[in-house]
Amino acid sequence: MVQFTLPANSKVKPGNKIDAANGSQRVKTFKIYRWSPDDKENPRMDEYKIDMDKCGPMVLDALIYIKDNVDSTLTFRRSCREGVCGSCAMNIDGTNTLACVKHLDEIKGNVIKIYPLPHLKVKKDLVPDVGMLYAQYASIKPWLQSQTPPPPDRERLQSIEERAKLDGLYECILCFCCSTACPSYWWNGERFLGPSILLQAYRWIADSRDEMTGERLDNLEDPFRLYRCHTIMNCTRTCPKSLNPAKAVAKIKQLMVKRKI
Ligand code: SF4
Ligand code: F3S
Ligand code: FES
Repeated sequence: MVQFTLPANSKVKPGNKIDAANGSQRVKTFKIYRWSPDDKENPRMDEYKIDMDKCGPMVLDALIYIKDNVDSTLTFRRSCREGVCGSCAMNIDGTNTLACVKHLDEIKGNVIKIYPLPHLKVKKDLVPDVGMLYAQYASIKPWLQSQTPPPPDRERLQSIEERAKLDGLYECILCFCCSTACPSYWWNGERFLGPSILLQAYRWIADSRDEMTGERLDNLEDPFRLYRCHTIMNCTRTCPKSLNPAKAVAKIKQLMVKRKI
């Protein structure tokens, strides 16, 4: 690990950090939200100047570089580093996305601002509290429910057409970029399920093997849980997996209408 020391003539404010390899032509400035429950201070933005020739191409590479070489106290979640676990979701350059698939070259300018996902409580630095989102996920019973026993000699089969109905749904990695970009979720997060959980709910409703469609719709038939979606579309615009949660919400609303007529 490289030891970090501020130059003697540094004008960097306390709490701001600069990379040891100062002077490179390829330096980018990272302004990163910092807050710790342990030090009883207000949140602040720390600044790190990083030589791009020394770190990998993605925002997550830069964060890991900072943590390993400049400031080991910087805290963030990550696991897969290839866009499949959803843990590195954060707000980068004004958009909710995954740090591990966000290319540094996509960001215009030399200053990159990074915040935790918006409108969630913060546990520390870039780590949001997603406890409520997981409780909402559990509330939709995200598993196959069937009264009919499976055939004794094989799996429950689907036709190619039935299986195709899950495309665009099963790929959701529960990163919550969409829910935390949705103004309705910001204002009613405790009662509105939000686009990520509603997409997951529709994933089971659309599954030909599931036999609880009526109960699942009953559970969503509520002025808050479903109908607080006002088709704002931020969810679909921000999804880093290019999914369309707004469409899944619309499909649930259609089914609600269909079963009434
Ligand atoms: Fe993340 Fe997209 Fe799933 Fe929303 S729909 S939780 S943005 S993968
Ligand atoms: Fe929100 Fe998406 Fe509906 S942004 S209001 S869930 S279309
Ligand atoms: Fe898994 Fe980014 S580290 S999605």
